[in-house]
Formats: sequence, structure tokens, C-alpha cells
Amino acid sequence: MASVPRIATATPAIEALSEFSSDVVIGLSHPGQKELPSKYLYDQVGSALFDVICLLPEYGLSRAGMRLLERHAVDVIDRVPGPAVVAELGSGSGQKTRWLLEALARRQRVNYYPIDISSSALFRCQLELAQLEMVSLVGFERAYLDGLHEVALRRRDGEHLLVLFLGSTIGNFDRAAGDQFLREVRAILQEGDTLLLATDLEKPEPMLKVAYDDPPGVTAAFNKNILARINRELGGDFDLEKFEHIVRYDQAERRIEMHLRSKVWQRVTIRKAGFRCYLREGETIWTESSHKYNPEEVVQMGERCGYRCAGQWIDAEWPFAQSLFLAA
Ligand SMILES: C[S@@+](CC[C@H](N)C(=O)[O-])C[C@H]1O[C@@H](n2cnc3c(N)ncnc32)[C@H](O)[C@@H]1O
Repeated sequence: MASVPRIATATPAIEALSEFSSDVVIGLSHPGQKELPSKYLYDQVGSALFDVICLLPEYGLSRAGMRLLERHAVDVIDRVPGPAVVAELGSGSGQKTRWLLEALARRQRVNYYPIDISSSALFRCQLELAQLEMVSLVGFERAYLDGLHEVALRRRDGEHLLVLFLGSTIGNFDRAAGDQFLREVRAILQEGDTLLLATDLEKPEPMLKVAYDDPPGVTAAFNKNILARINRELGGDFDLEKFEHIVRYDQAERRIEMHLRSKVWQRVTIRKAGFRCYLREGETIWTESSHKYNPEEVVQMGERCGYRCAGQWIDAEWPFAQSLFLAA
């Protein structure tokens, strides 16, 4: 029988609110290019919209990740030293994790720890996975590394960690920060632990752009929700009608960028932060980056960050890779 799902207590709401407030003020005061950290896209509304994005025909990433795990989960798990506990960074609704947990549960009882800053994502993850036979689930409402530290403290002697970072969420970091993040994960791991890393691969620009700017406008709503969230939680007065969702492909950096472009000159006040700023007509707020990779560079990235590649699987329909790295 699966155990009753639990969520480890979150950061106190007041602390989380003041961190949100200061990150917003810093980002909107940024000289040159205004920015908002992409992690704030995922409140309850944002997480629900992201789940819809994953259903869109234009957003091939999610289905590619699903196909790979459906086909290769057993092969992946065969290469993971056991016994293993599973930690998932930014689990979201955990839909595609099912195949991995089922494959692992065929050889052992599984402790699965999804880590996500979105409580509603964790809730959906629990609905999705907590009833799996031989699987116990405890969710951590934490930032990636804080959560991983806590999971690492729970491991028993002789147990290995299998860390999942799916959905190409690594692509939200710029390349240097991605390396730094993989090193920080490696510092928490022990030799013989593994990391399954998903990365979206380079593909023609039109295919990429429509994946982040779908005709029904779901990704536009997801992007604009960050402003709505500031209004709801921080007393902002953003007028969403005065912004448009913009997607750019930066060829040199090989990344999609999502921005919110101000249609007019406007003043914005964020009451609870005691902050006011101005946006020129055409000025943008940069909300998310999604870097694209080639398969060899993913292997090299892992190797220079302290891992050895133990396998790589690539989807034939939508170029997308899942790479298994062994902490070397
Ligand atoms: C792109 S979604 C991917 C979800 C899922 N892994 C998938 O493959 O569909 C990113 C997830 O990471 C979470 N997230 C974003 N930044 C985070 C952070 N700094 N710490 C923990 N979770 C974070 C979001 O709430 C969201 O659920």
C-alpha cells in the first residue's frame, strides 16, 4: 500500500512574501533590461496554466519527455545503482515520473521526494503518484537545493540518490549558471548517486517560437500571470491589457526568451513593496529563458561538473534528450 501523502512545511508565508517583494523590486529596478525571476511564474494559477501548456500540440517538449520515459524507463533504472531513493527537482504535476517509479518499484520499495516551490504543483503530484504500489511520497515545498539537502539528510546508509531534473527546466538557467547548479547538486551527492537530466535540443526557430507563443494564447496567459500575481499578492496595479506577450529566439545564445512588452508609457505602483516604476512604450520585462542544447554538449556539461554519462536517450519526433549521469 502507498503511504499517506505529506508535504514538509513550507517557508513561512511572511518570509516568502518578503523574498518575492524584494526580488520583484530588484528585477524591476534592473538598469537596462527589467526582469522578473521565472520561478514566480508558478503560483496556483501559473502551475495550472503550465499543465495546460503541456497539452498543447505546439509544446512538443512535454510529450517528448513522456515518450522517452514510457519507452526507456526500465533501461534507465537498470543503470541506476540501488537501493535508490528518488528526489525530483521542480516535479510539477509529476505526470511523466510515473514510469520511472513503476520501473524502480519492481525491484524495491521506493521513497519518492518531489521538490517544488509551488504548493499546488505538489498537490497535483501527490494526486498523480501517491497511490502507486510500493511507493511512499513526501513532498517538499522548497527551492531546489534546499529541498535536495533535506532529502539527502534522510537517506540511510547504503542508499543511493536518484535525482530527476525533467522538463528541460535546466534551460531556465543561463549556461554558466546551469553549470554552477549542476556542480551544487553534485556537491550534495555521493559517488554512485545518479542524476537524470532532461534537455530540449536545438530545432528550427519557427518550431521553437510557436511552442512558446501558441495560437490559443495559453503561454501568453501563463506569462502575464506573473503580473497578475504581483497585483494579487503585493498590491500591484499592473494593467494586463497594457502588456503583450513576446517571444524572441536569440541565435547566439541559442535560447528562447519570453518578455512582456509595455504597449504604452506607463507608471506601475506596487503598494506592499512601497515601490513605483515607469515603463516606456515598447520596453520589456524579461520573464523566462529556455536554453537549447545539442546532445554532445549535454554530455560535456555533465562531465565538467563532476559526473560521468551512463546513457542518453533522444526522442526522434521532437529533438529532446534525457541523459543519465553518474556522480563520478
Ligand atoms: C517547467 S516546469 C517542469 C515541471 C515538470 N518537471 C515537467 O517536466 O513537466 C518547472 C517546475 O519547477 C518549479 N520551480 C521553478 N523554480 C523552482 C525553484 N527555484 N525551486 C523549486 N521548484 C521550482 C515550478 O514550480 C514548476 O513546477
